Amino acid sequence: MSTLWHGRFEGGPAEELMAFTVSLPFDSRLAADDLTGSRAHVRGLVRAGIISDDEGKSVLDALDAVEKELRDGSFIFVASDEDIHTAIERRVTELAGSAGAKLHTGRSRNDQVATDLRLFTKREIGTVISKVLHLQQVLLDRAGEVGDAALPGYTHMQRAQPVLLAHHLLAHGWSFARDIDRLIDARTRLDVSPLGAGALAGSSLPLDPAATAADLGFAGVFANSLDAVSDRDFVAESLFVLALLGVHLSRLAEEIILWSTDEFGFLGLADAYSTGSSMLPQKKNPDIAELTRGKTGRLIGNLTGLLATLKALPLAYNRDLQEDKEPLFDSLDTVVLALGAMAGLLASSTFHFDAMTAAANAPTAAATDLAEWLVVNGTPFRDAHAIVGALVRRSLDEGVALRELVAASPELGPDAVFLVDPGVAVTRRTTPGGGGPAPVATQLKAFSARVAADQARV
Ligand code: ARG
Repeated sequence: MSTLWHGRFEGGPAEELMAFTVSLPFDSRLAADDLTGSRAHVRGLVRAGIISDDEGKSVLDALDAVEKELRDGSFIFVASDEDIHTAIERRVTELAGSAGAKLHTGRSRNDQVATDLRLFTKREIGTVISKVLHLQQVLLDRAGEVGDAALPGYTHMQRAQPVLLAHHLLAHGWSFARDIDRLIDARTRLDVSPLGAGALAGSSLPLDPAATAADLGFAGVFANSLDAVSDRDFVAESLFVLALLGVHLSRLAEEIILWSTDEFGFLGLADAYSTGSSMLPQKKNPDIAELTRGKTGRLIGNLTGLLATLKALPLAYNRDLQEDKEPLFDSLDTVVLALGAMAGLLASSTFHFDAMTAAANAPTAAATDLAEWLVVNGTPFRDAHAIVGALVRRSLDEGVALRELVAASPELGPDAVFLVDPGVAVTRRTTPGGGGPAPVATQLKAFSARVAADQARV
């Protein structure tokens, strides 16, 4: 078996070595970016006068042929193809002869792999952003369509104060808006070309890394060759952004799971987005939401796994760095699938307004409003809190309606009874950013503008 590095070695590699070190099964995903990077490198070699125009042309033609073979499935991999980079170079050399053997001049797999992975990540982040934007559009549409429907807002999973359903949906929307910020930010930071760093120290040949960077559409070029080949911050950062996006999806998923229980009864899932039970005929299960929650564990694991891989690596390239790809591919695939499934789940589910309204209109929902009514009339808040708290306790202990106790209360009295009327409490949330109809109307416009601006930004 003839590897790329056979010159220095007597005999071929052990079977166990190849089995353990190959990355072809997963890094063939970088084929398109490897071809892009190689084309730019060849053009750089021609510009530098290191290879002739004719040689450059035959290597570029061979790269086109390889692309076609990979696309139509006629590319034949051989046992010595350690990774996609080796496989492509081997085939180019077979096709273009001595010109092909010049492709790797002034380049190492170390700067090549880093270049390919940055090109790949830059593009894939764009795909994630478009999927997040789609989910946000679903949240926005649903928030717009549910009008003034209210449900209890919770703290400690105990009913606290009613809010509009639109307010609750948009709360998730804003966290996804920050995810888009982070995705764009990570993409901006990784937009730096490592090509030309060589194995670790640059080259004696007159290469121009800045020109190659521009050719590849990178916004910048490395400042330090050691850093260029060993930096995987961009992978760790992407994994973090994807893990946090997963955490946000998982929180939304958890609420969908709760809301679709008989106990809550706030949400009905569409058949097409639910699963059944193999034994229990009556079941309709929220598997999309559960898997979104479950797969978030993997997203977090991919991040922590890579950080552990990186933490003790001396400069510059170490083979450990090959471990960057599988977690990245996995996290990207997982998030893209989860975003699509969750958007479909949310778009197709039915809100059960009656159950939400009944829960939102429980008389105790007005407790804070009763206390604040006393405050407006001059009672210190701590005293008001105690007065209303005592009324709620009596209502629960004695089974007397809170409205009767309010009417009979010397501090509150008949004027305050309207606060306990169904639907009133939520209208009292009037401050900016609050959960009542007036601020939510403003918020809907702001969120809609934010989504439109993000759509234009990417
Ligand atoms: N497949 C390797 C990777 O993904 C290629 C780099 C190998 N470089 C080396 N110096 N052995 O990182």
